[in-house]
Amino acid sequence: MSKPYVIRVSSQKGGVGKTTVSVNLAIALSLAGSKTLLIDADFINPSVGIHLGVEGANVGVRAVLIGKSSLEGAVVRHNPSGLDVLPGEIVSRPHNPTAAQMQRLFRQIFKTTYNFVIVDTPPGFFPEEEFGNFGEAIIITTPEMSSCVSAVRLANDYDRTRLKHELLINKFRNKGYELHVKEIEEMYDGTILAILPDSEIVPIGVSERIPAYLMNRRAPFSSAIGELAEKYITKAGFEFQPKKSNSIFARIAAAFRLLFGRN
Ligand SMILES: Nc1ncnc2c1ncn2[C@@H]1O[C@H](COP(=O)(O)OP(=O)(O)O)[C@@H](O)[C@H]1O
Ligand SMILES: [Mg+2]
Repeated sequence: MSKPYVIRVSSQKGGVGKTTVSVNLAIALSLAGSKTLLIDADFINPSVGIHLGVEGANVGVRAVLIGKSSLEGAVVRHNPSGLDVLPGEIVSRPHNPTAAQMQRLFRQIFKTTYNFVIVDTPPGFFPEEEFGNFGEAIIITTPEMSSCVSAVRLANDYDRTRLKHELLINKFRNKGYELHVKEIEEMYDGTILAILPDSEIVPIGVSERIPAYLMNRRAPFSSAIGELAEKYITKAGFEFQPKKSNSIFARIAAAFRLLFGRN
């Protein structure tokens, strides 16, 4: 049995798209036939549940970290995609996990049969002592100078701790005022993992609690997410087995929400 492929989705800056990428990539992996777990490890602002419409968890990642719940006991299923989610709890004070707690969580994760574990994180760099040195990282940036400078800083921190990382450019508009991909590539001094367009389908999906990839698989944002998922499936050596689209289910659910109000 091989260990799950752990991908930490990170950035130095907030609001660049960590949760958006985590949620949509996890759904794409799941719909492509990979057994996938999405963990909301943004202990400051947990928002995976908001994107997926599974908010309000009493038991979630914090309960597993402090040993109050097993991993299986805290995981919820996102039915439209078949994705397993370890949600964050909405608590008045953020929980800062200790290294021992993170190790306890990952010991449990490495005993599971998940193919992929996607970890959404708070902005910033978390030293090994705090977050552990598990898997590899996606660093997210937008094509703006301030965001790219922060991304390079995070890349340097990861290099120091020998955590493998790749850069993803999000909210790309292809406008003259943006940094060019080549310039970003040079600043980062590495290859670009993916470029995701700025797309209205993302905020629409958040407001409907149906992530963009489920809402419309043909949109350019979704195609780019689909390609990213395929890239990881190939890298991990799994077979790509696309499942039937659930977008009809998603559309019916959206219609119901609009008709009968949100929960
Ligand atoms: N590719 C995109 N196109 C358009 N809006 C986006 C895109 N990615 C993220 N957003 C929007 O940017 C905001 C921040 O995204 P989020 O994923 O919450 O960032 P983070 O988790 O890094 O704080 C949200 O309002 C989200 O809808
Ligand atoms: Mg977030």
